[in-house]
Amino acid sequence: MGPSRMNADTVDDSSHAPQRPDVDIGTGTSSPGTVVSIRGSVVDVRFDATLPPIYNVLRAGPEGRIVIEVLAHRDARHVRGIALTPTQGLARGMTVRDTGGPLKTPVGKGILSRMFDVFGNTIDHGEALSDVQWRSVHRAPPPLTQRSTNSEIFETGIKVIDVLVPLERGGKAGLFGGAGVGKTVLLTEMIHNMIGHHEGRSIFCGIGERCREGEELYRDMKAAGVLPNMVMVFGQMNEPPGSRFRVGHAALTMAEYFRDDEHRDVLLLIDNIFRFIQAGMEVSGLMGQMPSRLGYQPTMGTELSRLEERIANTETGAITSIQAVYVPADDFTDPAAVHTFAHLSASVVLSRKRAGEGLYPAIDPLQSSSKMATPGIVGQRHYDLAQDIRKTLAQYAELKDIIAMLGLEQLSPEDRKVVARARRLERFLTQPFFTTEQFAGLKGKLVSLEDALDGCDRILHDEFKDYPESALYMIGTIDEAKHIAKPGHAAASATPGSPLNAQEAPPPAGTLASGVKPHLHAPTPAHP
Ligand SMILES: Nc1ncnc2c1ncn2[C@@H]1O[C@H](COP(=O)(O)OP(=O)(O)O)[C@@H](O)[C@H]1O
Ligand SMILES: [Mg+2]
Repeated sequence: MGPSRMNADTVDDSSHAPQRPDVDIGTGTSSPGTVVSIRGSVVDVRFDATLPPIYNVLRAGPEGRIVIEVLAHRDARHVRGIALTPTQGLARGMTVRDTGGPLKTPVGKGILSRMFDVFGNTIDHGEALSDVQWRSVHRAPPPLTQRSTNSEIFETGIKVIDVLVPLERGGKAGLFGGAGVGKTVLLTEMIHNMIGHHEGRSIFCGIGERCREGEELYRDMKAAGVLPNMVMVFGQMNEPPGSRFRVGHAALTMAEYFRDDEHRDVLLLIDNIFRFIQAGMEVSGLMGQMPSRLGYQPTMGTELSRLEERIANTETGAITSIQAVYVPADDFTDPAAVHTFAHLSASVVLSRKRAGEGLYPAIDPLQSSSKMATPGIVGQRHYDLAQDIRKTLAQYAELKDIIAMLGLEQLSPEDRKVVARARRLERFLTQPFFTTEQFAGLKGKLVSLEDALDGCDRILHDEFKDYPESALYMIGTIDEAKHIAKPGHAAASATPGSPLNAQEAPPPAGTLASGVKPHLHAPTPAHP
């Protein structure tokens, strides 16, 4: 399937000659234009002959260092564009050249293990790029006839996700949450867990997050030895909105190359898709468009779909994408969050409350959902177990109010059993991460789906009712609980017949010694 499938779009460049846009300062055919106004990132340019088409890249300033993308034709003589670079030094009357093509990004074998900015410049201080072609970042999604759908599970090795929110191979999963609830940590852990068995390529796209994070990730990936199959692209929060708005397209162009040209499976990680929407909002505001609800751009839905629709599967390869979604002010009805939800096959919701209790990963199973969680896909046993777990957790959530008001003693024995199971499940579904080893002090654990299901099944059958809850906290497989606390010992410290006492009420002196680890509380954040 060579070039024919690549021509699905209308704006792809036809010439595959290697070309560095940063030195290409005017191969366009149209005669140069003149800057007529500059407001922040928005630049109006007058062209007396022909207007450059939408998406064409214009260059101005010394060595063409200021890059402007045409976004609108104002009238027969003027275009309005958004600068992808800072506009310092740009002045009215300055000459602007049309490069004759859209923004391009390098693709090919040569991009592996490298780190790029939105222009395809390497930012890892490595040697010059070789063995690459440059491709337009504006491309159409594959036509429906070329798409494939087969529902297959993508195991992550993270218990709570694999059991309750199974991800789809070739699907899109979102990690939703407010600031500091662990989205980036979870995303990094997934890269870590999946890259080992994942034959394909991974692309990490950082949009509008802290620049430090990108640098750290690069170092971590290098140390973990996974860099050779990975590409990183960043447009972080210090960069102009135009750059943050386009960096996602650049990353997708690379992902499409691996899918369509190398016929591989691609893992595309985006941190954070909300920043893409936000950059679009800034661009739209600067362009003078009337804002829509909550100040968002009227074109938010279209912009997001243009990007998300390109994350698609064909017969030759799949792009599996995991996207962190920042939720402003923890408000899940925010239009940006709602629009993003609509594109995903699995939504993993992180809750601040759980993070506060130290139940990491702070996933709220009752809010999270996956369209893969059906008997036809995961199998009857997994489905039934997941339903039981959800039911138990939901019952516990309902009982919480009563417990808070009247105390556990007022519950019926049956309800108390539910509470005991739910609390053990909650703890068993925590997991120490490889990526947090340094500050959590616990060795990371990867757990197979089978082991995770087995553990939940045994908890639901009360096998661990005589173990202290803490024995199940931050472990891998369920058998580790047996090494931490012997049932005999736990049974001795718990009042026989009412195992809850030992955990729900303040435990008698000495009870904690057997099981509670020093990390029962939330680890101190690694940064202020
Ligand atoms: N799985 C985890 N185990 C232990 N600590 C965690 C975990 N996930 C998050 N944290 C803590 O929360 C902090 C913020 O996490 P981060 O992923 O940067 O949040 P976000 O990306 O959602 O803003 C981390 O620095 C760490 O202290
Ligand atoms: Mg983050």
